Amino acid sequence: MSVEWAVSQYEILPSTQDKLKEDLFSNSNLQEGSVVCTDIQTKGYGRHGRKWKEGQGNLYFSYLLRPEKDRNFCSQLSLIVGISLIEVIKSYISDGVVLKWPNDILIDNKKCAGILVEAIDIEHENYPAIIVGIGVNISNAPLEISTYLNKHVNECKNISIEQFQKQFFEFFDTNYSKWKELGFEAFKSSFIEYTYPKGSKIGVKIAENKITGEFIDIDNDGNLELLCNKTEKIRKITSGDVFLM
Ligand code: BTN
Repeated sequence: MSVEWAVSQYEILPSTQDKLKEDLFSNSNLQEGSVVCTDIQTKGYGRHGRKWKEGQGNLYFSYLLRPEKDRNFCSQLSLIVGISLIEVIKSYISDGVVLKWPNDILIDNKKCAGILVEAIDIEHENYPAIIVGIGVNISNAPLEISTYLNKHVNECKNISIEQFQKQFFEFFDTNYSKWKELGFEAFKSSFIEYTYPKGSKIGVKIAENKITGEFIDIDNDGNLELLCNKTEKIRKITSGDVFLM
């Protein structure tokens, strides 16, 4: 069954993620598909509390899911969101678009979108509610190391925020139903198609440690498989930040 999206649109908010959390705390029955979206976000954040820089003309939104799975499934969900985002982006831009495990979208090696998936425990409920936060640079790149979608399309074909979000919900709906039915295994080939080629030399930063090696594969649970330079053994990575070497 597809999600019924109910969008609350704001002109300015500190963070759509925090606003949706507040809405959930004041109404624990808040329905799946509730969306908070803002034109301007002043205190957005990403994974590990990193600041998500604001810029006008970009897309900032958070939405609520209730997949009835435990919090360990958040990492898979993050990949499903990433695959859905890249499918929309690839409908406009064919070259240089990469899904960097676990949750960044890059164009020509510069970040254009980020995903934050958080599990929120709710009293007397068996499973956490999930809040997905997405930032997509559409008309503005707030950092030198980032880029924006409209830089990569013909000026007369500029992407609008509304159109992009509508398309995203369509792609996500299909992928979310498929994931709930078949699990991440059904998305492995899509992930492999959208990420760095197998055999790429990559590093993973996990807290203060760095592991380097060769990208081998993704497993059925969405973990990265790395042939470790140091041990010459395949290591499964469950979390961390990937960088190209
Ligand atoms: C990351 O790259 O670490 C994830 C960035 C997620 C940013 C989005 S913008 C909309 C939503 N509100 C937030 O405060 N964060 C997410």
